[in-house]
Amino acid sequence: MNDGPTDLVKEGTTELFVYTNKTSVKGPSVREKTPFYNPSMELNRDVSILVNQWLLNTSTKHVHILDGLAASGIRGIRLAHELSGDFEITINDWNDQSFALIQQNIQKNLLENISVFQRDLGSLLLERRYHSIDIDPFGSPVYFFDAAVRSVYNKGIIACTATDTAALCGVFPQVCFRRYAAWPLHGPSMHETGLRILLGCLCREAAKYDRGIEPFLCYTTDHYVRLYVQIHNGKSAANASMAQYSSIMARDVPLSQENTDLVGPLWLGSLQKKTAIQEIRTLASTKELHTKPLLWKLLDLLEEEADAPPFFYTINDLSSLLKVSPPTMKHIVEQLKNKGFIVSRTHCTPTGFKTNAPLGVVTEVFK
Ligand SMILES: C[S@@+](CC[C@H](N)C(=O)[O-])C[C@H]1O[C@@H](n2cnc3c(N)ncnc32)[C@H](O)[C@@H]1O
Repeated sequence: MNDGPTDLVKEGTTELFVYTNKTSVKGPSVREKTPFYNPSMELNRDVSILVNQWLLNTSTKHVHILDGLAASGIRGIRLAHELSGDFEITINDWNDQSFALIQQNIQKNLLENISVFQRDLGSLLLERRYHSIDIDPFGSPVYFFDAAVRSVYNKGIIACTATDTAALCGVFPQVCFRRYAAWPLHGPSMHETGLRILLGCLCREAAKYDRGIEPFLCYTTDHYVRLYVQIHNGKSAANASMAQYSSIMARDVPLSQENTDLVGPLWLGSLQKKTAIQEIRTLASTKELHTKPLLWKLLDLLEEEADAPPFFYTINDLSSLLKVSPPTMKHIVEQLKNKGFIVSRTHCTPTGFKTNAPLGVVTEVFK
């Protein structure tokens, strides 16, 4: 085992031993010491609890859930302890110390509906099939996409985190092109563009196997991108998904008007499914989750932007461009709604708004 001390932490209703390399609740954790544990990802894990409970509630069969890159095992052990229904959990991490700590944490929680592997996730996925697969790597999940889309059952879920935001958001465009075969865009909508590039990549991988993707809860934060996608079998599902996979001109993204560069290919379809988000939000009141205020706020915004078009304006950038003082968000939303356009806030930034109104109309509302 690791020489350092373990601390007992509590997330949801589950207590676990972890190595607390980092105590701040914000930003990425340090990677050198394993097993890895990042307290700032509690919200990310709380969302996992709700999404998997939603899957269980909507499923008529036994559900097999995989926490593929488990570290301390906190996500999988929480799922085993906090979900209700007919399910089992598999936890996997190839690291020796993680494997030992996961077993210690399973014993601590007296869990029985759980199995542990110490395998390379790619080869595990090629041998076994799951209804829900979680991929939470250091950096990019792209290396596991092919195996995950082959492993997941029809109507199953692939959930993944990407922390390589510098590549996805256009700080290192060549890295993004090598990794995702897509050109990113550095600008106000860069986090949403990064999320859409990641989804585009998953869409492409799934389509090879005549499978389509249905993103139903996707979001970004400053240091990661997170997506939940349902996989559907069949050529028509794959064709429908590929119809949403395309490149665009940078000038078609708000506030990048003069730029003729190509962006993508990326996913241009919906990022959220309103009904799923509403059902998932209802489940939050049935669970003990410490990040509930943040969770409500996030789910409210995701629901609000579910029917809005891709990309967004930011009030600050637009007022600098137009050289006018910034109106309030309330004013913008009311004015655009009164003119009959779709308008919503975005979870990506508090000053952002999405609309199908042309730039001329948006400019009018600002003046
Ligand atoms: C970011 S950590 C996982 C964090 C964890 N999911 C959580 O919520 O705290 C990534 C883990 O993936 C493991 N890992 C990386 N590549 C792997 C592979 N190919 N197969 C299995 N485990 C792998 C590492 O040992 C590390 O523990």
